[in-house]
Amino acid sequence: MDDKLIQLLTTKLRDKNTPMAEFRAAADKLALVLVHQAAQFLHVKQITVTTPLEQSAQGTELRENIVLVPILRSGLALLPAFLQYFPHARVGFVGLKRDEKTAIAHLYYKKLPPIKAEDQVLVLDPMIATGGSGASTLKIVTELGIRQEQIIFIGVIAATPGIEEINHEFPHVKVIVACRDQKLNAAKYIVPGLGDFGDRYFGSE
Ligand code: URA
Repeated sequence: MDDKLIQLLTTKLRDKNTPMAEFRAAADKLALVLVHQAAQFLHVKQITVTTPLEQSAQGTELRENIVLVPILRSGLALLPAFLQYFPHARVGFVGLKRDEKTAIAHLYYKKLPPIKAEDQVLVLDPMIATGGSGASTLKIVTELGIRQEQIIFIGVIAATPGIEEINHEFPHVKVIVACRDQKLNAAKYIVPGLGDFGDRYFGSE
């Protein structure tokens, strides 16, 4: 994305010499930028408030409830930024672990709150590689009766094959990412990418 702040932060994330604490700090700041971008697509309604000067002022408030769905485990890194802005959001979790040999994601955990058809669902996953985890999560959410138009998918880096997969399967889901990379390597990691986001954020390498 052609935005200097995003470039500065993603450069920190991509650099293999960035230590864990700095990686985490850059990711947390970038998550706040992504909240800002996602918010442009949220539905709001016009309201009038009264200021302490007893004047009317026009404003907005969210029209729909927000439900956040981080994909475990990397999606957890984006969650605090979204909760900061949307403290009333319910949170659901989808746990997908990809088989390192086949790169196919297997569902090992699912716990979703009640979601109403009109709620806005924000799916959080920093790395869209093959699009497999994202598509599996979108399938789970849409099978609950949530329209694609109500869903925003938020990530840090998306590889072209992953974006194409999601756009093909879920053409009406809005996808917001900080940057796009062209390809995947043989192990289905995004290149140039930033390595394993979860390992670098949580220090599990
Ligand atoms: N998940 C990651 O953390 N990194 C990749 O490059 C692909 C999937």
